[in-house]
Amino acid sequence: MDGGGGFALRWALLGCVRLCYNPGFPRNRGVFPPHGDSIVTAKILDGKALSQQIRAELAEEIADFIQDSSVVPCLAAVLVGDDPASQVYVRNKQKACDQTGMESKFQRLPEDTSMEELLTVVNRLNKDASVHGILVQSPLPGGLDEPRIFQAVNPIKDVDAFHPENVGLLVQNRPRFLPCTPQGVQQLLLRSGVETAGAHVVVVGRSDIVGKPTAIILMQRAAGADATVTVCHSRTRNLPDVCRSADILIVAIGRPRFVTADMVRPGATVIDVGINRTDEGLVGDVDFESVKEVAGLLTPVPGGVGPLTIAMLLKNTLHAARLQIGT
Ligand code: GUN
Repeated sequence: MDGGGGFALRWALLGCVRLCYNPGFPRNRGVFPPHGDSIVTAKILDGKALSQQIRAELAEEIADFIQDSSVVPCLAAVLVGDDPASQVYVRNKQKACDQTGMESKFQRLPEDTSMEELLTVVNRLNKDASVHGILVQSPLPGGLDEPRIFQAVNPIKDVDAFHPENVGLLVQNRPRFLPCTPQGVQQLLLRSGVETAGAHVVVVGRSDIVGKPTAIILMQRAAGADATVTVCHSRTRNLPDVCRSADILIVAIGRPRFVTADMVRPGATVIDVGINRTDEGLVGDVDFESVKEVAGLLTPVPGGVGPLTIAMLLKNTLHAARLQIGT
C-alpha cells in the first residue's frame, strides 16, 4: 500500500535522481504530476512554431529584396512519378513559397520518364533566368540515376545543396548553401538554446541527404556547431551504448520507433528526423512515448524537423536569387 507519505517520499527521491541525471532539469521544464505514475521530463520542441517565426522573418526579407531588385525569387520543383508522400512534400513546398511572397513552378513528370527527358527538363530550368532555385524531389523512381540528376542542376540554383560542388564547399567550411534538413536541425538547436560547442553529437544514419551533411555541419568550426560528432549506422557495434553517450542524439535511420528510452541518456536532446508511414499514422525514428520520459528535449513527428526543412528551402531560394542577381 502506498499512502501519502510514501508518495511524497517517492517524488522527493525522483527529484533527486532527476537533478543528478538530467542536466537540463529544471531548465527543461521537468514536470512533476500532482498524482499518478506518469513522469514527463522532456520539453517538446515545437518545430511548427519555430518555422512560422523563421518564415515571418523571411517574408520581410523577401519583400525588401523584391522592392530593391524588382525580382521575385522563384523555386522550381520537379516531381517524377506518383509517390504520395513526395506529392505532399512538393505541394507543401509550393504553398510555403506562395505564403512568403515567392513564386513557384511545378513540373510533374510520369513514372516512366527517361534520364534524357529529365535532364532536358533540368537543363531548361538551368537556363530559365526567372527560376532561381531548382529542386528535384527525391527519391526518384528506380532506373533514374539520382546522383547524375543532382549533378546536372546548376550549382548556383542548387537549393538542396546536393551538387558535388556544393557538397565540397560545405566540407571545406565555405558553404554556398546548407542542405535544408541538416540546416533545419541546426536552427532547431540554436533557437532552442541547446549548446553544441564541445557537446557529443551522435548522428544515427549516414545518408547523403541527412546523416552525412548533418555530421559535417555540426563538426565545423562555426557558431551553432563545434561539436564532437559520431556517426552510427546499421553496422555500428554496440549502437545503444554509443547512443547513450550522446548529449545530442540526431536520428535519421528511416526505421519506425528505432530509438527507445534505454538508448537515451537522461536529459539528452533528441532530434527525430524520421517520417515513417505506418498503420497507426506518421511516426518518427524515435519511440516518442518512451523517450519523452527520459530525454531533456525532444522533437515530435510530425511538427518537429519537417517544418524547419521547408523554412530552410525558402531561405536557400532567397539566397540563390541574391547570388544570381549579384546583391
Ligand atoms: N526528399 C526528402 N528530403 C528531400 C530534400 O530535402 N530534397 C529533395 N529534393 N528531396 C527530398
